[in-house]
Amino acid sequence: MTNPGTEFIPFALPSIGREEEEAVLKVLRSGWLTTGKETQAFEAEFASKVGSTCALALNSATAGLHLSLEALGIGPGDTVVTSPYTFTATAEVVRYLGAELVFSDITPGGFNIDPRILRETLRAAEKNGHRLKALIPVHIGGEACGMTELQSIAGEFGLAIVEDAAHAFPVRSDDGRWTGTSGDTGVYSFYATKTITTGEGGMVVTDNDKIAERIRTMRLHGIDRSIWDRYTSDRAQWAYSVVEAGYKYNMTDLAAALGRVQLEKAETFLARRKEIAAAYTEAFREMPELDIPRTSGDHAWHLYILKVSRDSRINRDNLIESLRRRGVGTSVHYIPLHLMPYYRDRYAFSPGDFPNAMDAYSRCLSLPIYPGMNDAQVDRVIQAVKNGCKAE
Ligand SMILES: Cc1ncc(COP(=O)(O)O)c(C=O)c1O
Repeated sequence: MTNPGTEFIPFALPSIGREEEEAVLKVLRSGWLTTGKETQAFEAEFASKVGSTCALALNSATAGLHLSLEALGIGPGDTVVTSPYTFTATAEVVRYLGAELVFSDITPGGFNIDPRILRETLRAAEKNGHRLKALIPVHIGGEACGMTELQSIAGEFGLAIVEDAAHAFPVRSDDGRWTGTSGDTGVYSFYATKTITTGEGGMVVTDNDKIAERIRTMRLHGIDRSIWDRYTSDRAQWAYSVVEAGYKYNMTDLAAALGRVQLEKAETFLARRKEIAAAYTEAFREMPELDIPRTSGDHAWHLYILKVSRDSRINRDNLIESLRRRGVGTSVHYIPLHLMPYYRDRYAFSPGDFPNAMDAYSRCLSLPIYPGMNDAQVDRVIQAVKNGCKAE
């Protein structure tokens, strides 16, 4: 038997209820498991939620980032700019297409790409002969980037914008739009730990019909008809044309059924995440050893990223270990990409090339924050952090 006061609090846990179970069971019993009317309904509901003309469901956000850049025509000889403070998915898709990456540092003390540094990076890249094509801003941990300024920079340099909103549903940017809807496309992740989940899954939104059409074709083998259309329209079921060498990135109806229920709960989930974030911030605000996340804009609180303060005697790695011993799971977001062997070696990066990303990385730890956490668990995390700091 586990003692309710001592059970391990995992870093992340999906919130799945009876409604999700029933929705998936219904699909399992329906005889139609792959992309079909559940996926279509999920797309329509998602597009309506964020006010986009078109939402396209996929089997991951990585697929969405890839197909967005592909639809923008990005390829060898082109350069895409993003932050090194992100998961590799944001950057690897640029390399899928044979294009090159330029990283631009995050704001000092923050986590998102810094507009002032970005301008300098873009000027330098232009001077160095880069053919700049697109910017991928990442709303790290769910903190909305200032899209107004990023759009103005993108305009100055003639860049398309693909928003990586993998962490940022459902919140709004400073331009009043839902994150993911300020650029040419926006991409959301429904991976198991995200703010809403389909197990694995993603969604691209866009108001651009041409981009939407290209993604629709490329997500399913470059075929000109969807599977559902083949089985429901008057045209012969067996007839289709392959018009491109496409990919296999479609979402299943099983995943979509799960996603539809999660979408309905998204605002309730967010409200609970906000409560937990507020409790953490209140508890740690006065602790000189810690830096609480300071956000100027809206926040989806996918991650609560705490930092040990710069002059603190506390070692971040020891604090993580101490929390683990006290029954609290944590994580680190992120090990900057320029430290990863692939990017480091390809672009000959040194650790000091992105000082703000390095500073954030060396001091950060992410605490558990999910709707299923009860108040006692939130208190246990707070006490574990306080005691961990004392013990250091
Ligand atoms: C910032 C960011 N972008 C993209 C992705 C890719 O998401 P997915 O796992 O749905 O492909 C992730 C995944 O964790 C992420 O953290």
